This record gives sequence, structure tokens and C-alpha cells, in this order.
Amino acid sequence: MAVLRVRDFEIHPGYFAPEAQADLVTELRAALTQAPLVRPVTPRGSPMSVRMSAAGSYGWISDRKGYRYEKIHPSGAAWPPIPMRLVNMWHALVPAARDPECCLINWYDSTAKMGMHQDKDEADLTQPVVSVSLGDDALFRMGHLARGGTTESLWLRSGDVVVMAGNARRAYHGVDRIRPNSSSLLANGGRINLTLRVVT
Ligand code: SIN
Ligand code: FE2
Repeated sequence: MAVLRVRDFEIHPGYFAPEAQADLVTELRAALTQAPLVRPVTPRGSPMSVRMSAAGSYGWISDRKGYRYEKIHPSGAAWPPIPMRLVNMWHALVPAARDPECCLINWYDSTAKMGMHQDKDEADLTQPVVSVSLGDDALFRMGHLARGGTTESLWLRSGDVVVMAGNARRAYHGVDRIRPNSSSLLANGGRINLTLRVVT
């Protein structure tokens, strides 16, 4: 499928075909038995609406102690390995990048959203972030390097991949809402977003 560009955001609609999406969900379910989803709280103590886990050598954590990457799950368990088809996708889409060290797993129920933010807890912000959508559609909002200004929004569908490189790497972005029951991929509905990152 043709690649869409919104400013520096590069969108690959339907990068993963339905069978590949289903295989990925099976692999993620196995990963989540080792590293279960948790509901993070912000450093100020407000619960986030998404639930999170991770795969790879680091996972991103938010709790009263702040935002950071950790080498182990809050339970003390090791993070599971990043599924090979995601590593292959990374190499195909961002061949010049270093290998991904974290695959953040965010689970959105029908009411979850993600406020406008920058991804900036990684040491090398020249390395891209690659995001995969699975399950229900999500309204993805793209802003600028500074907070505010006009934004552009796009519905991300199951199987879509977004590459955030160049200026998009440090641009504000967020998810306004999920369209419940728009996909039958996940047996209990909702949406999974995966973001692959280089952390160190
Ligand atoms: C994020 O920015 O961490 C999530 C993006 C998304 O859910 O599509
Ligand atoms: Fe983000």
C-alpha cells in the first residue's frame, strides 16, 4: 500500500495483513503472561487510562518515582523478547537505525486515550520510534515540536504502522479516542499499540 506522509510522520496503512496481525496477537498474549499489563500512574499519582507492559531489554515505567526505562517488570520478572516479526519490520522500515531495545505494549479499552506528549525519555532522540496498531481504530493526533499550534488527525486502523523519525520523532502526538467494536481482531475488543524504541 502507498505510504502516507503527514508532515514528518510516515504512515504505512495495512503494513500487517490480517493473518500476520493474528499471529502477532498470539505472540503478544504469550509475552503478557510473562510480563502482565499494569495500569501506570503518573508521577503526580493519577492513573493513566491505558494499561502497559513491554518486551525487549527495557520497558518504560511510570509511577510515583517518575517516568523511566527499567530492565525488569515491576513484578521482578524479565521482559520477554521482542517478537521476531516486529524486529524484521523495524529492519525493513528503518534500516539505518540501531536495533530496538524496547517494544512498549499499550492496551486501550474502549474509553482509553493518550494525551498529547513527546517521547523523550530515550538517550538518543535521533533514533526513530515505530508504532504498530492492532484491534480497534484510534484517532491519532499529530502536532509540532512545541506544544500547541494546529494539529492533524488520522484514524489508525489495525495493521497500520507509523514511523516517527526526523522532526516527527520529537513532535507532540496523542490518541483522542478509540472507535469501539471497529475491529474483530481482539476477542474482547480494544486496541493494542506497540512502539519500538532504542532506549540507550
Ligand atoms: C504513544 O504515543 O505512546 C501511543 C501512540 C498510539 O497509541 O498510537
Ligand atoms: Fe508517544
